[in-house]
Amino acid sequence: MRFPKTPNYSGFFAPSGVEAEVSHIPVIEGEVPADLDGAFYRVAPDPQFGPLAGDDIWFNGDGMVTMFRFKNGEVSIKQRWAHTEKFLLEKQAGKALFGAYRNPLTDDESVKGKVRGTANTNVMVHGGKLLALKEDSPPVWMDPETLETIAPIYDFGGKLTSETFTAHPKIDPDTGEMLAFGYAAKGLLTRDIVFYVISPKGEITNEVWFEIPYYCMMHDYGITKDYVVFHVVPITSNWERLENKLPHFGFDKNKPIHLGVLPRNGTADDLRWFSAPNCFASHVMNAFNEGTKVHFDTPMAEGNMFPFFPDIEGGAFEPQKAASRITRWTVDMLGNTDDIEMTRMTELVGEFPRIDDRFAGKKYRHGFLLVQDFDKPVDLPGGRSASGMMMNTLAHIDHETGETDTYWVGPVSSLQEPAFIPRPGSTEEGDGYLVVIENRLAEMGSRLLLFDARKLAAGPVATLQIPFRIRMGLHGNWAPAEMIAAA
Ligand SMILES: [Fe+2]
Repeated sequence: MRFPKTPNYSGFFAPSGVEAEVSHIPVIEGEVPADLDGAFYRVAPDPQFGPLAGDDIWFNGDGMVTMFRFKNGEVSIKQRWAHTEKFLLEKQAGKALFGAYRNPLTDDESVKGKVRGTANTNVMVHGGKLLALKEDSPPVWMDPETLETIAPIYDFGGKLTSETFTAHPKIDPDTGEMLAFGYAAKGLLTRDIVFYVISPKGEITNEVWFEIPYYCMMHDYGITKDYVVFHVVPITSNWERLENKLPHFGFDKNKPIHLGVLPRNGTADDLRWFSAPNCFASHVMNAFNEGTKVHFDTPMAEGNMFPFFPDIEGGAFEPQKAASRITRWTVDMLGNTDDIEMTRMTELVGEFPRIDDRFAGKKYRHGFLLVQDFDKPVDLPGGRSASGMMMNTLAHIDHETGETDTYWVGPVSSLQEPAFIPRPGSTEEGDGYLVVIENRLAEMGSRLLLFDARKLAAGPVATLQIPFRIRMGLHGNWAPAEMIAAA
């Protein structure tokens, strides 16, 4: 038997293993705008083999990349596994060789020292390369047109000095630079961070090294015009946990959070730290600065949001404390306090925040996210996210008016993270579309939905049938045709 019959491998979470090429998929309702020319890339964990230890968390599956290519009002699909070093070694062996999530002590002896990355968290095109990313390892370089893996371990021509590379790099919309970082950059569990500036052609042009107050899962971060912003949150670990075969991360409710702000052209000496009491935040909607005042918008929860990374003292998971709401953290680089001012931006409970990426790092108005609407019925709960949330609603928050616009997907479906597609020829913020995968739980199938980003309540402008089930995924991004062809 290839996979165990555990919740992580059953129902909608059953591994897919589908590598596919479909020339066009049926439009069920509406119309795909004929002028959309580009691709929506996204990735999901999809294990090639059953786990060594009998079960594993969803986060540890091998990265399966999907490309939805939009052209002339039609959408075609390619879906391929990212060929990581781990994937290739296990394929050759015909079985799993790597053990638990972020714990090399559980690996087969034959793969000691090999790269454990799964490339399952994010995919984006930069410098003509499709990069498949997992925060514990270097990028995987894939061909943006064919999805062939070109380099299982991409080190930027030998210039990558870190052992790791974030799955949430940002593209500066003005310069085209990719701004990225690595945590545990000098090795597993180390407190070393490196921040990288990568030119539009894909060359590392600057790096800054520093240490964080304690090792943590530094999953995302923020960029502004003048600064980069790192949040240290109390999802932490140590060798003792790994030796005891506990989940790599655990939540420490005794630790404060920290916010490190680094001037983009500065050195580690210019980094300033701010702090606030214990809480949880992982993804970042956007950040921006007004002079030396830095704003950082994040879905923030009172307590642990990850039941699979339990309380380090054995405390029970508290779902009511896991509810996250977009909150603005503000600090002043020249201020006389190290405290973080916190302002809640909405009462909607949600995660997977996105923006019109042309406004990354800038003062912005439009935010998008997946929301859990508790007032709506849930007939089939099998499509919950890994954290247990039932993402049944797509939401738009207008930070200027405070108004929200939402679309509920119904009681037998859930949604995956949206990506923003600018309307061709437009420059106005929010003028464009949101592309979203709908998990059709009753039929174990999937649809692709396209919305006008500022008219969500009106429903999708196009609904497309995907001819196979798309596994629950993490992140993705749009790339216009000229970026794909640049490869
Ligand atoms: Fe993420």
